[in-house]
Amino acid sequence: MAQERLAGHAWWQHGVVYQIYPRSFQDANGDGIGDLPGIGARLDYLADLGIDAIWISPIYPSPMADFGYDVSDYCAVDPIFGTLEDFDQLVAAAHARGLKLILDYVPNHTSDQHPWFIESRSSREAGRRDWYIWRDAGPDGAPPSNWLSEFGGSAWTWDDATGQYYYHAYLKEQPDLNWRHPDVRQAMLDVLRFWLDRGVDGFRVDAIHHLIEDEQLRDNPPNPDWQDGMSPARRVLRARTMDQPEVHDAIAAMRRVADGYDDRVLIGEAHLPFDRLMAYYGVDLSGFQLPFNFHLIFTPWQPSAIASLIAAYEAALPEGGWPNWVLGNHDRSRVASRLGPRQARVAAMLLLTLRGTPTIYEGEEIGMTDVPIPPDRVQDPWERNVPGLGLGRDPARTPMQWDATAHAGFSTAEPWLPVAADHAKINVAAQAADPRSMLALYRALIRLRRTEPALSIGGYQLVSADESALVYERRHEGKRLLVVLNMTGSKRVLQHFPPGRVLLSTLLDQADGRIQGTLELRSNEGCIVMTDI
Ligand code: GLC
Ligand code: CA
Repeated sequence: MAQERLAGHAWWQHGVVYQIYPRSFQDANGDGIGDLPGIGARLDYLADLGIDAIWISPIYPSPMADFGYDVSDYCAVDPIFGTLEDFDQLVAAAHARGLKLILDYVPNHTSDQHPWFIESRSSREAGRRDWYIWRDAGPDGAPPSNWLSEFGGSAWTWDDATGQYYYHAYLKEQPDLNWRHPDVRQAMLDVLRFWLDRGVDGFRVDAIHHLIEDEQLRDNPPNPDWQDGMSPARRVLRARTMDQPEVHDAIAAMRRVADGYDDRVLIGEAHLPFDRLMAYYGVDLSGFQLPFNFHLIFTPWQPSAIASLIAAYEAALPEGGWPNWVLGNHDRSRVASRLGPRQARVAAMLLLTLRGTPTIYEGEEIGMTDVPIPPDRVQDPWERNVPGLGLGRDPARTPMQWDATAHAGFSTAEPWLPVAADHAKINVAAQAADPRSMLALYRALIRLRRTEPALSIGGYQLVSADESALVYERRHEGKRLLVVLNMTGSKRVLQHFPPGRVLLSTLLDQADGRIQGTLELRSNEGCIVMTDI
């Protein structure tokens, strides 16, 4: 329930964020697609889980070429998801339960069906022509540069009617906005105000690293590390199309808008190495409060690699910059598939005991795994454009598994993506009744994070990392907690362990066990220990 403030910390620092992919969370009107009333119906579940904020992937009117990440009206709700009234009700209902609500803001591109683009492509003289990035063909009719679309093919699409190419970092149905144009900026900042005025508590800002491209359209250099089987978009290094210096000015403008309201947060989606990522906090922290840190997803699951990752991240953080951690989202293979169901429990303990704001992706709390999608049910345009390389994101976007009934309690109709075959076993209802389930573990971890501020705002220090175990300390106001993670399938005995008591095991079968010098971890077990000193 409602979170009290921890002295000196904002809600987005000590809170836990939960990502909802709205098409797949809960369908309330029986069309096989999740919606806002569906989310409303599950707020009690979320409050009970103990999270503090929900981030909802895009809900705006959209032709759904990229399932909502192609927006045709930034200031409305797609009828598939409901109405603006439904949205207002959801905000009120969330707030009544002490939950914050964060929307997805998609500034890099609109839908090709957005009125701005329809106007822009109507003629070269159109008032909004320069709201997008139009260029003449090269002498031989070729695209203006070698830039590639993330979803396959050239990033330039030829427009016959006006005889120019337009640029799109993603699908050709997602033309990039021209953020160098002051009117684009104004219009897009007004979008933030529209939703902030309606009470949203912040935004997750989509694909921010793509916001601005090289003005001279210089070619991207070839990627020497590209190999067969990798995404074709990686054939070039995105030196001219990503992470351009002007982006920070645009982010600071977004932040100034958000800071005109109290207590709002901006979370940025930037896929970058640490040295580049840190710039997204902005000069004097004038940028995102939380530039997403995705590196846990890509780091080998091994104690020393994870310890080095944490150390490198902590060392790179700017003064006063608040950390954050992510294990999965609607774009990545699910953690229980990447690591297996047993290590997924250890991963949950890691995520929820690291210093910084954790984000949980819907379904991770019950250990959902990637669902194989038969070819005739593929939805993701990336998989359709570049088939067979495993790039498709549908497997991580299948319906939330609420119970053992036909469509997993997600819908009364056949869902837009298939429900996991194992849903009769892996579902919320079954796990709610099982005191040792993954769901029980998530609840216990979140509860402990709340009762022991050391876990949310305390200091972090590495104790040890070897072939099998990662041990670190969280310390706050005279309390010292040790997190001990066995990242292997063999048992592990730690000698000379400080005296204390086990607060929580990932296996949920020992609590308050005394530690007398030795800590025995079973295979795939993690423990949180309160030391006597
Ligand atoms: C982000 C989103 C992804 C989307 C892309 C284009 O990476 O997370 O789902 O396809 O941006 O908007
Ligand atoms: Ca629906």
